[in-house]
Amino acid sequence: MNNPPAENKKEIEKLVKDLNEHSYRYYVLDAPVIPDTEYDKLFRHLQELEEQYRYILPESPTQRIGAPPLEKFEKVKHNEPMLSLGNAFSHDEVREFDKRVKKGLKTDREIEYSVEPKYDGLAMELTYRKGMLIRASTRGDGFEGEDVTRNIRTIKAVPLKIEGVHPVPEEIDIRGEVFIDIDEFEKLNKEREKNGEALFANPRNAAAGSIRQLDPAVTEKRRLHMACYGLGAAKGIEFRDQAGFMEWLKKAHFPVPLIFTVVKGIDKVIDSIKAIEEKRLHLPFETDGAVIKVNDFVLQRTLGIKTREPRWAIAFKYAAHQGITVIEDIMASVGRTGAITPVALMRPVQIGGVTVSRSTLHNWDEIERKDIRIGDTVVVERAGDVIPHVVEVKTEKRSGTEKRFPPLKQCPVCGSNIVREEGEVAFRCIGLNCEAQVLEKIKHYASRGAMDIEGLGEKNVELLYSQGLIRHFVDLYRLRKEQLLELPRFAEKSAQNLIDAIEKSKTTTLARFLFALGILHVGEFAAKQLAKNFEKLDDLYRVEADRVMEIKQVGEKLAASISGFFSEKENLRTLEELKKLGLKLTNPDHIAEGEQKKRQFDGMTFVITGTLSRPREEIEEMIDMNGGRVTGSVSKKTSYVLAGSDAGSKLEKAQELGVKVLNEEQFMMIVEGA
Ligand code: IVH
Repeated sequence: MNNPPAENKKEIEKLVKDLNEHSYRYYVLDAPVIPDTEYDKLFRHLQELEEQYRYILPESPTQRIGAPPLEKFEKVKHNEPMLSLGNAFSHDEVREFDKRVKKGLKTDREIEYSVEPKYDGLAMELTYRKGMLIRASTRGDGFEGEDVTRNIRTIKAVPLKIEGVHPVPEEIDIRGEVFIDIDEFEKLNKEREKNGEALFANPRNAAAGSIRQLDPAVTEKRRLHMACYGLGAAKGIEFRDQAGFMEWLKKAHFPVPLIFTVVKGIDKVIDSIKAIEEKRLHLPFETDGAVIKVNDFVLQRTLGIKTREPRWAIAFKYAAHQGITVIEDIMASVGRTGAITPVALMRPVQIGGVTVSRSTLHNWDEIERKDIRIGDTVVVERAGDVIPHVVEVKTEKRSGTEKRFPPLKQCPVCGSNIVREEGEVAFRCIGLNCEAQVLEKIKHYASRGAMDIEGLGEKNVELLYSQGLIRHFVDLYRLRKEQLLELPRFAEKSAQNLIDAIEKSKTTTLARFLFALGILHVGEFAAKQLAKNFEKLDDLYRVEADRVMEIKQVGEKLAASISGFFSEKENLRTLEELKKLGLKLTNPDHIAEGEQKKRQFDGMTFVITGTLSRPREEIEEMIDMNGGRVTGSVSKKTSYVLAGSDAGSKLEKAQELGVKVLNEEQFMMIVEGA
């Protein structure tokens, strides 16, 4: 940095301060005092002076933009872990939370709580040293995230320098949510549609996708916002409670939640939750709930954390958003296992700020159960993360012209026959070379939870496939850089990155690899369980279904599928080939014989009913892998009924017979205790 004459220095410093103040008024307070044109003029003037005198302050607004693209994000360890939150789905569950808090604090007195909207975005940690923003990192796995500082600097509401408070703490970690307003989200999607780019499913994905951009110039265009609500590690400052911390944040020019109240006693908490719910559809951002926190920081520390969730906070989730629309058509999509999923194409409808135009109908049993027809007026629901689904048909709106959609006989992609195996819900295409299946299998193989090949998303798989470079995932390991360079989307660096990522994927865990293979019924969970039980891949070769079941008490369907897969010559050839190409598997999950725990559901039977947030297959897999069995109807012998939303007669029957009923959360708690 040069040393310009004192008066120019002063002018630059004043301009930076003024511009930051205007930006704060505009982006945080939403109350600008000068017109945009005036701001732009001052900004350009500052740019000129900075250039002329080569005197640039790190908090200068000109320093938000122009950072060059990165090759990858560096990993950052959080000073204190970033936790997640437990959920409450009813007011009763909020009251139970209050009881747990009181019990934990050994008191009958009413507790003071803060209530804030739950922002639906991406959790972020901002680290300030001596008042300057030095790092922004994503939550990651809670312990370690990614350094996205350059991208966060482009968010105008995020202060580059702490203002307005004295003294400035030596170092402080401030947490919050990066999100995008609903109207910005819609604008963004419209533009993407015009450019033929894939649309973001919801504002949250748009925010997350925008942060994970290697080029900050892209992030800058997305107009992200942030709300700060949490304290991480801090040196040189102490806060008594959440309310005091929020006050400080506001003074220090940070954007805070639009609604924030502190109340005493759980009744008032519930009033506040209701008040947010009333406002939520008019808020500029998406919120699916409210966060309730014990206000006093000493009490928070006394309560502590339970695994990865604090005992002093909970998220209350509002009931799902619903909308009414018309099913214009139904189409069938083919998955990687050949399963045919009917998908409703609907007249676009706004649900909680998101345009919904497609909804999975899951399977034909579901179509029949709900009697869904083309032309029907339906109620569609969208709950948080969950893909939209049809809740019910408004049969009174029928005109008589509605058409049924019977199961297909031929695959819409390859024309092969479609069959339904005994006891299965899904219809499947039996075409071995069905393009849809092959493509989906490769996409699955490369995906995050599987081999995690960075840069090999759906688009690139489709491109490589359409160019005839891959017909199977094994072909990935034969790709050469020169071949990639001939394709439109690749340049020197991106081609090398992809080749490197593919190479890297050769060393992975047995669990990931088993999942990546896409064996029928073997999801992430089952793959992990298999890896616990079988030390090496070879131990699974030619294993008899009975033997898998006998030793490991694995469910019949899964065992048959595994032994079927490993007895197929073609599959074994593929595995050998992968080994030759350099596949190396480790197995950190394996548990030695004799150390295996008894499984939770040994000898138990389950009935599943209603709508759950996870695909039913995944739930069945969890029961199966824990030694339980799923049956279709409730009897006295049923151990548990797992009931989702809009559960009907089966739930009633369970209550009649006194069979224990679990909701999804309770069920997951048992499974995760595994
Ligand atoms: S407090 C330990 N407050 O929700 C406390 N979180 O489901 C954790 N979130 O990871 C955070 N709005 O990303 C808190 N007002 C708010 C929030 C909020 C959204 C997110 C946050 C967290 C997730 C947990």
